[in-house]
Amino acid sequence: MSLVLAGVTVLLVDGPETALAADLLREQGAVPVNWGGHGTDGPEGIGLVRIPAGAAADRAAEALEWARRHGVPVDDRRGVPDHGAHGAHAVPGKPGAHGEDAGAEEPAGTTGEVILVGGGPGDPGLITVAGARALESADVILADHLGPVSLAEEAARRGAELIDVAKIPYSRQVSQDRINELMVDNARKGRTVVRLKGGDPFIFGRGFEEIEACTAAGIPVRVIPGVTSMTAAPAAAGLSLTHRGLNHDLTLVSGHVPPDSPKSLVNWDACAKMTGTLVLIMAVKNAGAIAATLIDRGRDAATPAVVVENASTPSQRVTTATLGTLGETVRSTGVRSPAVIVIGDAAGRTAHLC
Ligand SMILES: C[S@@+](CC[C@H](N)C(=O)[O-])C[C@H]1O[C@@H](n2cnc3c(N)ncnc32)[C@H](O)[C@@H]1O
Repeated sequence: MSLVLAGVTVLLVDGPETALAADLLREQGAVPVNWGGHGTDGPEGIGLVRIPAGAAADRAAEALEWARRHGVPVDDRRGVPDHGAHGAHAVPGKPGAHGEDAGAEEPAGTTGEVILVGGGPGDPGLITVAGARALESADVILADHLGPVSLAEEAARRGAELIDVAKIPYSRQVSQDRINELMVDNARKGRTVVRLKGGDPFIFGRGFEEIEACTAAGIPVRVIPGVTSMTAAPAAAGLSLTHRGLNHDLTLVSGHVPPDSPKSLVNWDACAKMTGTLVLIMAVKNAGAIAATLIDRGRDAATPAVVVENASTPSQRVTTATLGTLGETVRSTGVRSPAVIVIGDAAGRTAHLC
């Protein structure tokens, strides 16, 4: 079982671990095809670009650029070796739940538990120690595509069942009801269920709804907080959201609906009047409309803006603009989700990190 969707055609960049990566992809039900460089045709039929561990920097850069141009998501594994890739192993201390016995029914009458784990922004090193331990103890992992996907896949190679419940923007969506059902049904079979989420479960993560579904079904549930992309993305880009003497407020806004939508719950007038830092998530598509609204309602067009894509992963990219140029910059540079946008004077001071 894999996060890579069964039947998806995956463009595989060449490198020392390409053959291993191709085998893994086939095991996961995907169809790997070899990357042919810049001359590769358009994205028809291609669902993912995979950059295996050890891929040469120039090949990876070419592939990233190709993927960006064609709007195809990238699974960049540089720095995440596919060690221990073949074969499922029993997890010490959990007899009967993994390995050869995986899939066997647990004794009736025992109830498992659900653990909501905030996985952080993507770098496997940015999950908490408690979160990593929970993954080690999991019989079943329900995972999103954001967050430390490689850790979930490692747990699957050790024998945990991995279920892909990603909600991909403007693409395939697993309904929240189905996710709730999977958590409850698996816990009722006595399993330890880890619901692995990107960032923190309670920041635009529907974590509370999942807790309610568990408690309504009488399933024990706990939460392990995660490092939210709201703070991790700016930090990874060397950007401090607050500066002494510069700002005393910090606001997080979801930009998944445009400001003029009747569905918007954001007080855009208030946002425009604030002088501190504004952080937008899920705002790539509506960045231009949001910037125009903020300027229209009083925020200075010269206010610095910084966009951080794929924060904490090898494909992280940082793009600078002003509020006035944000929409055009996002468009012309081909910014893609996931991205965090920081607006405010604090965004004008980005440190050069090594
Ligand atoms: C559904 S929200 C989930 C937020 C998550 N619960 C958190 O605390 O980070 C998804 C949005 O988070 C942001 N995001 C998550 N991971 C990111 C990353 N590695 N780099 C940039 N933005 C990220 C993007 O704005 C993305 O559209």
